[in-house]
Amino acid sequence: MDVISVIRAKRDRAELTDAQIDWVIDAYTRGEVADEQMSALAMAILLNGMNLREISRWTDAMIRSGVRMDFSSLPLPTSDKHSTGGVGDKITLPLAPLVAACGAAVPQLSGRGLGHTGGTLDKLESIPGWRALLSNEEMMDVLRGTGAVICAAGDGLAPADKKLYALRDVTGTVEAIPLIASSIMSKKIAEGTGALVLDVKVGSGAFMKNLADAQELARTMVGLGQNAGVNTVALLTDMSTPLGLTAGNALEVRESVEVLAGGGPADVVELTLALAREMLAAAGVTGGKDPETALRDGSAMDHWRRMIAAQGGDPDAALPVAREQHVLTAPASGVLTGLDAYAVGVAAWRLGAGRARKEDPVQAGAGVEIHAKPGAVVTAGQPLLTLHTDTPERFDYALEALATPDAITIAPAGADFKATPLI
Ligand code: URA
Repeated sequence: MDVISVIRAKRDRAELTDAQIDWVIDAYTRGEVADEQMSALAMAILLNGMNLREISRWTDAMIRSGVRMDFSSLPLPTSDKHSTGGVGDKITLPLAPLVAACGAAVPQLSGRGLGHTGGTLDKLESIPGWRALLSNEEMMDVLRGTGAVICAAGDGLAPADKKLYALRDVTGTVEAIPLIASSIMSKKIAEGTGALVLDVKVGSGAFMKNLADAQELARTMVGLGQNAGVNTVALLTDMSTPLGLTAGNALEVRESVEVLAGGGPADVVELTLALAREMLAAAGVTGGKDPETALRDGSAMDHWRRMIAAQGGDPDAALPVAREQHVLTAPASGVLTGLDAYAVGVAAWRLGAGRARKEDPVQAGAGVEIHAKPGAVVTAGQPLLTLHTDTPERFDYALEALATPDAITIAPAGADFKATPLI
């Protein structure tokens, strides 16, 4: 088999055979197929697509590139959640301990930021001492001891995806349904969770900008999960505006702790509760504590504290704060009709919350604090956003992202405003 014939086949819109797919994934994992060849193939897939048989085989080959985990020795059913990526999407942080408090075990393999979207591991690493990298044995110990674990996929789990994910990030090949579906589902199936809830984001801040694409991605992933014996369901959720009132690493940890303490922004609470109920139902946990009660009675917070401490973090430590702030005010009075998720995500990324190259460090305190959400009545000159960074030379670059015509839209007072449903 040679890689050039596989690239040419997809370039010319042919269906790849099972043998071609198995070979190319294995050869890429071993380093026999070079990054530039795999990027050409990824671009051909992005442009010409794959049918369900090809996606299913591609996913299976990525699973077979590494080891599979097994949680069958745990006394509780397992349930996991995966978001396709968004801005201000801190939901995993309150959700994992919440679901654990309600009776399911949550083995949550998470990722770092991808493009303008934030990463759960980058957020949690702003907690002093917290470790994302656990061996498979440590992951099991934390899960057994606290009911929930959030960590990076170990080296042995879907290594083909690890290489391909980093390559897609820098070659403009992220937004392809076959590649997103196989990337997410190979990790989740290899991880061995019994149930999986997918939070498929749709809107400007998501990789899927319109509902039809998000539905196709959701159906593809649910099909892959169900065929592999993982009870998989999906919610389509709005990502036209950021979730909650923060986008950034430590900023989002602070907001997540507010939710665990029974407060927090209404949209974050609504989505956390909806996903928690889906995760419990998918795992077959019925009649236990209701998630809303677990937020109110402190049991979700207890699980959070134990989970953070078990991974070396200090749940009582002060979170990092950026050295410099810049306040962006409302340019006019009226109704705030839009605060674009993509613009806010790019601004947070440029302030230092995300990476320009995959080896870059992120700033724990950087990001955007939101003072008014769409639907709010605003007065010219009132604070709309506070930008945070350790490197003030980044302010202008971040402000450029927020100066595009769709970034912040204000209609005259009294204008009709219809919110997009969150779920
Ligand atoms: N999350 C993943 O794990 N992979 C993708 O391709 C996109 C989001």
